[in-house]
Amino acid sequence: MTTQRKILVTSALPYANGPIHLGHLVEYIQTDIWARFQRLQGHSCYYVCADDAHGTPIMLRARQDGIEPEQLIATVQKEHEADFAEFLVEFDNYYSTHSEENRALASEIYLKLRDEGHIATRTISQSYDPEAEMFLPDRFIKGTCPKCGAEDQYGDNCEVCGATYAPTELINPVSAISGATPIEKDSEQYFFKLSDFADMLQQWMRDGHVQPEIANKLDEWFEEGLQDWDISRNAPYWGFEIPGAPGKFFYVWMDAPIGYMASFKNLCDREDISFDDYWHSESDTELYHFIGKDIARFHTLFWPAVLHGAGFRKPTAVYCHGFLTVNGQKMSKSRGTFIKARTYLDKLKPEYLRYYYAAKLSSGVDDIDLNLDDFMQRVNSDLVGKVVNIASRCAGFINKRFDNQLAASLPDAELYNELVNAGKSIASEFENREYSKAVREIMALADKANVYIDHNKPWVLIKEEGKEAEVQAICTQGINLFRVLMTYLKPILPQTALKSESFLNSELQWHTLSKPLLAHSINKFKLLMTRIEKEQIDAMVEQSTEHLEQIEKSEAASGPLVDDPLAEQIQFDDFAKIDLRVAKIIKAEHVEGADKLLQLTLDIGGETRMVFAGIKSAYEPELLEGRLTVMVANLAPRKMRFGVSEGMVLAAGPGGKELYVLSPDDGAQPGMRIK
Ligand code: 2FM
Ligand code: ZN
Repeated sequence: MTTQRKILVTSALPYANGPIHLGHLVEYIQTDIWARFQRLQGHSCYYVCADDAHGTPIMLRARQDGIEPEQLIATVQKEHEADFAEFLVEFDNYYSTHSEENRALASEIYLKLRDEGHIATRTISQSYDPEAEMFLPDRFIKGTCPKCGAEDQYGDNCEVCGATYAPTELINPVSAISGATPIEKDSEQYFFKLSDFADMLQQWMRDGHVQPEIANKLDEWFEEGLQDWDISRNAPYWGFEIPGAPGKFFYVWMDAPIGYMASFKNLCDREDISFDDYWHSESDTELYHFIGKDIARFHTLFWPAVLHGAGFRKPTAVYCHGFLTVNGQKMSKSRGTFIKARTYLDKLKPEYLRYYYAAKLSSGVDDIDLNLDDFMQRVNSDLVGKVVNIASRCAGFINKRFDNQLAASLPDAELYNELVNAGKSIASEFENREYSKAVREIMALADKANVYIDHNKPWVLIKEEGKEAEVQAICTQGINLFRVLMTYLKPILPQTALKSESFLNSELQWHTLSKPLLAHSINKFKLLMTRIEKEQIDAMVEQSTEHLEQIEKSEAASGPLVDDPLAEQIQFDDFAKIDLRVAKIIKAEHVEGADKLLQLTLDIGGETRMVFAGIKSAYEPELLEGRLTVMVANLAPRKMRFGVSEGMVLAAGPGGKELYVLSPDDGAQPGMRIK
């Protein structure tokens, strides 16, 4: 046997203000399969996680519920732990970032960084809510997008046109907390000097600790230049106060990854494991973080730099996965595809999902799709129809006719060895997180096992005289093939593996497979897995379908969780509010100093409006003069650098040269309302 590896793995820490849903579970299932696989190979593998318990959203959510944040995070943590346990995600420790271990480690790391000169302080100006008396994170400022004019956009990016910007650029910004207009206020902040670690990070990346797709992303970030990272937040803030900086708190993303260490520390203290072996030396232990691609920056830039700067080891690798779509689309509450872990568990068995995700997961960062029809079909045909079926076709005879005794030899040792020998490549697929390949290979072997049984027909032979020994041998063969397959599937299907162990009266171990179970007494076969029925899926979707009022209510409580198409729909009354008019372009001119704008003078039936339109890239102004178009006549006037725009002209197209100003058919007159 190869030498035993000492491995520590983590999954990203879920925020302590919302439920676990099927999107989260991709990662926990991916990590759990990997950890179980490592243990099955005989390695030591600790898997730790925790709730990410700090930050403004958690503080505000607790306030809204009228409870202390401690109470909120305790309740949510219990729910998270119950969901994970039922999905058979088996942590060695599940903790919280709001722990004494984390406070101590965060302080230690910060002080080390400070003493080594990697912390700078600077006074910066940030948005402040004068009514709520607090600084506002970007997500808590809403306003009109400075690029496309879409209303009700967050302070960091526009969901309509995709632009990113600073909250100070929003037009008519308001605080999402109090509705007040934010002001700019100066305060001193603490920065981690990321650029001190540029060379180290580039080397670390080149040494292959990240996937190729992420290395490309890192290259872009290196090219843009590494900016100092603001690790402090002003009171009131829910988190740890920074040592030596009263009224300043660690930004949630500073102490969150330290939560990996803290959770492990808590385990070490309880089980007498050496913390330092895993966090100080890179030579005899391995450290892996499984995360979603959206948080790669925190884990592949800030985190290794923070660890290195504070004298700790860096991760052996950071493994990113893609997002989950359901039926090919983003999860949606209105479509019933924003499915909470709990709702799933109410209707379906956890192993179905574990298997389906495994069948879809690869080592890359591509998104994976949970197609609910395919899910049912695949689980039923692969697990119930192929794997479990092998055992159920053979077990009855052994149980009833042969007093539970397996035969003393295998009739087809070659086939058996073929399955055992495949273990090597299946193991390397698990190791490389190519679970979909492993599953494909296992299912191809299951097909062979079924062909063997179909071909030998024990149910026919048993009726013939003097064929008992043959039937016993065929069924012994079948059960041994099942044993190999179930061992390979054990990291994915731990519960079925456990039931199989009790049926086989033997533990499923990877390294003992070369020796088949012969002249061995098994136990009575009990049903290992049932089929998924369409009704179960329908009921789950139905239970997950929220109607508009519910969505509004739940979002008021927890903040928007996903983009929802309903959020983009409007009622007729909303539409009726828009005063769309036929307008005649009387004059079109270039605007001095503007790259994109033309200034249009419009006639809307006796009234003249001046509008700036971003159509310069597609039109020579002269060509527009005299033609009719459509404008929004009751858009609140917008003050722009070049003057006030009194409405908006409608045009279609992606932009650049492809922009098409709308026009009505012949006969329309300036000023006509569009209905
Ligand atoms: O994105 C998130 O959900 C974060 N709570 C993940 C934190 S992972 C780690 F760094 F703590
Ligand atoms: Zn926009």
